[in-house]
Amino acid sequence: MMILENEKRIFTLQTRNTTYQIKADENGVLLHTYYGPRLRGGDLSRLIRYADRGFSPNPNEVGNNRTYSLDTLPQEYSGSGAGDFRLPSLELELADGSHVADLRYVSYRQQRGKYDLEGLPAFFGGEAAADTLVITLEDAAAQVRVELFYGVFEELDLITRAARIVNQGDQPVRLYRAASLCLDFSGLPLEFITFDGGHVKERKLNRAPLRPGIQSVGSIRGISSHQHNPFVMLCEPGADEDHGTCYGAALLYSGNFEAAAERSQFEDVRLTMGIHPFHFAWTLEPGQAFTTPEAALICSPSGFGQMSRQFHRAIRTHLLRDVWRDRRKPVQVNSWEAFYFDYDQERLLRFAKESAQLGVEMFVLDDGWFGRRNSDSSSLGDWWANEEKLPDGLSGLSREINALGMEFGLWIEPEMVSEDSQLYQTHPDWVLNPAGRPYTRGRSQLVLDYTREEVREYIFQTLQKLLETARISYLKWDMNRALTQVWSAALPAGRQGEVYHRYVLGVYDLLERIRQANPHTLIEGCSGGGGRFDMGMLYYTPQIWCSDNTDAIDRLSIQYGTSFAYPPATMGAHVSAVPNEQTGRSVPLETRGAVALSGTFGYEMDLGALSDQEKAVVVQQIQDYRESYTLIQTGDYYRLSAPSPDGAPTAWLHVSQDRRTALLCLVSGQVHAGPPFRQVKLKGLDPALSYRLTGDDMPWPGDVLMQAGYPLPMLGEYECLRLWLKAE
Ligand code: GLA
Repeated sequence: MMILENEKRIFTLQTRNTTYQIKADENGVLLHTYYGPRLRGGDLSRLIRYADRGFSPNPNEVGNNRTYSLDTLPQEYSGSGAGDFRLPSLELELADGSHVADLRYVSYRQQRGKYDLEGLPAFFGGEAAADTLVITLEDAAAQVRVELFYGVFEELDLITRAARIVNQGDQPVRLYRAASLCLDFSGLPLEFITFDGGHVKERKLNRAPLRPGIQSVGSIRGISSHQHNPFVMLCEPGADEDHGTCYGAALLYSGNFEAAAERSQFEDVRLTMGIHPFHFAWTLEPGQAFTTPEAALICSPSGFGQMSRQFHRAIRTHLLRDVWRDRRKPVQVNSWEAFYFDYDQERLLRFAKESAQLGVEMFVLDDGWFGRRNSDSSSLGDWWANEEKLPDGLSGLSREINALGMEFGLWIEPEMVSEDSQLYQTHPDWVLNPAGRPYTRGRSQLVLDYTREEVREYIFQTLQKLLETARISYLKWDMNRALTQVWSAALPAGRQGEVYHRYVLGVYDLLERIRQANPHTLIEGCSGGGGRFDMGMLYYTPQIWCSDNTDAIDRLSIQYGTSFAYPPATMGAHVSAVPNEQTGRSVPLETRGAVALSGTFGYEMDLGALSDQEKAVVVQQIQDYRESYTLIQTGDYYRLSAPSPDGAPTAWLHVSQDRRTALLCLVSGQVHAGPPFRQVKLKGLDPALSYRLTGDDMPWPGDVLMQAGYPLPMLGEYECLRLWLKAE
């Protein structure tokens, strides 16, 4: 809901649990007056203080009033070079070489339903779900306008933001920085939470109080990256899963980003998020506009868990667009960790048959099926079947797979090219690389120049041919190196600062074309596991391979970190063989299943090589998947304990919307002699109901389970529990 107090120029965005307020003051400066737990409203600018502060200059409108400075006032979209020395949202270079951006309020408009951003991922919502507010600001001297877009999803506590910068003058303007989000907090000590790591160790939660100055995370790798996720949080010092105010901020973007938090000299905090300014320079000719990626905000007055559940709901209902969103996805088996590059048709069919006999519903042929690809150093770009391995081609193989009652899926890596490929031999200039400069290779491969229409068109046609020759129900869209030598042969020197962003727009464009041409094909995103796990990709690919690390114990913390923003339904997770490829650890099959079942679920191992007893476990797991699918995909997710190195169990709970059904999942840690009696306190149940737990004769009252906890049996190292709770 939006309350617009026209004459006072106050804009109050009310959601179910939060209030966000903006005010254009008498000087036209757009102030951010409040964001936090829901308030009744009114003019909250009385919270703002004015004081004469040394070295904080005063804008022209206020003459010698030294108590009014852009450097101390909470700004809704900060300028630069005009007296606010904190993190800028906008940095421009004008034709005269000046770098000043000084914005004032012009007007606003509103509409029912959520705005769209052409060519960019965005939350969507019709009139019943969302409202849009657009506030227009202007730097009159520069003749640049900025439209600030707000999407308000009342029930979800979701506020989305984006900015559109328009050059209204008759000279070109160059943009060096255009944040999607600027958020000022006055005088509150806040802590900064980021999700960091690397390849095979993505999204570990890190939390620290904000020190004076700027703390930031970001990526200049051309992908959102394994190292830092474009989702960050701010919270009150005491906040935890169930208490305290916290703020989650996500950028719906899959390329270079920066999320920066600054604690100022007066202990105010500013958060900005947007495209990373490294090698970003975008020229706006007269009349042209630039639209930033979308940012999404959710504030929870009652801890992290509530924030996560609201993000999960928002993603499930207003970001994922696929037909698969509301359908049970088939249980898949993927060939990668089973065979890597070492297979032929006969081996694959044996593998598929044995998997089908256990109840697997989809067979995914991973890397190695195309060109002359027998290792990771050749053939990317040659998207046709390797006839030595697959004499009947993909159509023959997929027909045989279908005849087993299974669907057929395929791995591709369409943004890349190997030098040892026909594509590279024909079009060596289609790669990103400044002419004459030696290559930097990553996984022995080069990156195609997706800024170019003809490159995307070629890949589109090649993939379409593939998708038309065989019945392909699933694509795993991989991307296995970071961008370097970022330079496009198709753009002049002065526009090379646009290549990183144009690359991402190119990826989105091609994904959208493939989606629209093949609406029934499920696409899973992947970038060496979770190198591009972000809400931008989720708009196109409703699930993303979470990590190349399939060790169930490591996965506990990867999936835990991921769950702060992203719902289990989006996390690609498979059971793999032991000892694990990445860690050498052996974890019981039941536990590997329990961890993967709280993601998309499937197998990544040679199921035919299992013992009869293990095969029986697999059959049971597939049965469990079918039973728990709806709850896991549509229920609420509660983190009960964080993965811990001291051996305490990691526990989580899926609860149905009506709170009558729940599934407790738990994995024990390392075992030490003389273990304590442990119990786990459940959450989200109805205290007035009684629940029957798997294997327990007597029902448990909900209040007992939540307040006193459920007494755990003694578990061995890395053993798991998966207990259903059903209300009586
Ligand atoms: C990436 C993916 C893996 C697998 C390989 C194939 O690393 O994350 O799952 O598909 O590529 O080369």
